[in-house]
Amino acid sequence: MKTNLSFANPVELQTECLVVVALDHGQMEKTEVSVETNQAEIKDAVTDVIASREVTAKIFEPTLLHRPAKLKAKRLLLLGGGKAKDFSSFELRRLAGAAVRTLKARGLRSFAFVAPNNIAGEDAVKAIVEGAFVGNFDSDTYKSDRKDQNIDALTVVAHGDQARVQRAMNEAGIIGESQNFTRELVNEPSNRMTPTMLAEHARKMADEVGLKCEVYGADKIKSLKMGAFWGVAQGSDEPPALIVLRYEPPNAPASPVLGLVGKGITFDTGGISIKPADGMEKMKYDMAGGAAMLGAMRAIALLKPKVKVTMIVCATENMPSGKAQKPGDVQIAMSGKSIEIINTDAEGRLVLADGLFYARQLGCTHLIDAATLTGAVVVALGYVNAGVFANDEKMYQRFHQALEKAGEKMWRMPLDEEYKENIRSNIADIVNSGGRWGGAVNAAMFLKEFAEDTPWLHLDIAGTAWMEDAKPWIAKGPSGIAVRSLVEFAKAFAG
Ligand code: BES
Ligand code: MN
Ligand code: ZN
Repeated sequence: MKTNLSFANPVELQTECLVVVALDHGQMEKTEVSVETNQAEIKDAVTDVIASREVTAKIFEPTLLHRPAKLKAKRLLLLGGGKAKDFSSFELRRLAGAAVRTLKARGLRSFAFVAPNNIAGEDAVKAIVEGAFVGNFDSDTYKSDRKDQNIDALTVVAHGDQARVQRAMNEAGIIGESQNFTRELVNEPSNRMTPTMLAEHARKMADEVGLKCEVYGADKIKSLKMGAFWGVAQGSDEPPALIVLRYEPPNAPASPVLGLVGKGITFDTGGISIKPADGMEKMKYDMAGGAAMLGAMRAIALLKPKVKVTMIVCATENMPSGKAQKPGDVQIAMSGKSIEIINTDAEGRLVLADGLFYARQLGCTHLIDAATLTGAVVVALGYVNAGVFANDEKMYQRFHQALEKAGEKMWRMPLDEEYKENIRSNIADIVNSGGRWGGAVNAAMFLKEFAEDTPWLHLDIAGTAWMEDAKPWIAKGPSGIAVRSLVEFAKAFAG
C-alpha cells in the first residue's frame, strides 16, 4: 500500500472516497453527533444524515454517501468513533483499519482519510497509517478463488508540521509492513513453515534490511549444551534452527544491548503428552512469538534507533516419536540447571530457557521474550490482553509506555516468590510444569530462573496472537501482536 500526505483542503481532493470521523459529544445517554472537520462543505454534506438520527457515531458505524454535494470526492464515508471524550489514537488506529476493510470489501483501491483535528498531527497520521496496514491484511492466501482486493493507495489529509508529519508517516509505514510480515509468517501452515523455512525467511529479510544473520542447526545446539531446547527438538524429523539476528549500528553505545527472544515452535502436537485432536490445527501459530521478534527486527533495522539489539528465535517442532523426550526425563539446560520434564507439552519454556540464557551469553543486558506460552493466560485474560511479566520495575515502566504508544493491550501479571514452590522437583532443580492453577505464572516463574538477575520482560501472547473472529478493523487470523510495542520500546530505549 502506497501512502501519501495531503495538506490541501479535503473538499478539493479528488478521491474514490473521503473518510471522516463522526464523534458523539453528548453527555451520558444523550447522543450529539458531529463530524471531526473544520470544513463547512463536509459538515453540510452530512447534515441531513445526522439530522435523520440514522447516525449515532457508535464506534465503527459506517455511513457511506455517494456524490456528496460540493465535494470533489466520489464518496464520503462517515465513520463512527464513539464518545468524543474517550476518543484517542487507540480508537483512531482501529478506525483506519475499519475504513480499509469497509472500502476494500466494496472493491475500492484507494481513498483518503481526514485526520481528526482533536488529535495531534503526527500522532494522528501514525495511528491512521499503522491501522490501515493492519486492516489491509487478509489471511486467505491459499483460496483458489481469492479475490485480490486490497487498498493500493492511502492519502492522509493531515495537519501540523509537515516535516514531522511526513516522518511519522514513514515510520508508521515501516511498522505496519513489519507487523504484516510477522502475520504472513504466522499464517503459514507447519508444512510450509518448518524451522528451516522460518530460518530462510529470517535470512532473506536480514539481507534485505541489512541485519547480520546466523542460523545454527542440531550440531551447534548440542555443542552449546542447550539440553532444554534439544530435548524438544530431538523428537522431530525436521531439523531445528537457532536463528540469531544482530542489529549493531555504528553510532550505538556498547551497552545496553537489548535481547529479543522468541518461541518458534512451528507446530506443537504436545509431544508424548499429546494434545487432543480438536483444535490441534491451530498449533501452527505456536511460532508467533518468534515471528513477532522477526517483524520487530525488520522495523528496527529500517528505523535505525541508536541501540544494539540481538534477536534469538529457537525454532523446532514439538513431535511425538521414538526419539521424543518422555515425561519423567531430566534435561540439563545450557545454564546448568536440571529440569524434570513433567509434561512434554510445556515445551515453549524449555526452548526459551536456553534462548534466554544464550542471549545473556551473547552480551544482552536487557531481555524481552514473546511466546504463545500457555493456555492459562487465555483463561486469565481472554483474547483481549496479552500477559506481561517483569522482574524489573524500570523495564516494566518503559514497556508500559511503549504499549501506550503502540496501542497494544497487555496486562501485568505477578511473579511472587511463593509461586516458585509450584515448579519444585524431587529429583532435579525444577519441573517444567507447575500444574493447572496459575499456569501462566508458573511458566513465567520457570523462565525467570533463566533470566536470573538480568532485567527481563516476558510476553505471553497465546490468547492474542490469533484473532478467533474477524473484527471491523482486523481480519480473522494472525494479529501480529507485540511487534509495534517492541519497536516502540527499542526506539525509546535508544534515548
Ligand atoms: N503452545 C501451547 C500454549 C497455547 C495454548 C498456545 C493455546 C496458544 C493457544 C503450550 O506449548 C502448551 O501446550 N502449554 C501447556 C502447558 C501445560 C502443559 C503446563 C498449556 O497451556 O496447556
Ligand atoms: Mn505445548
Ligand atoms: Zn507450545
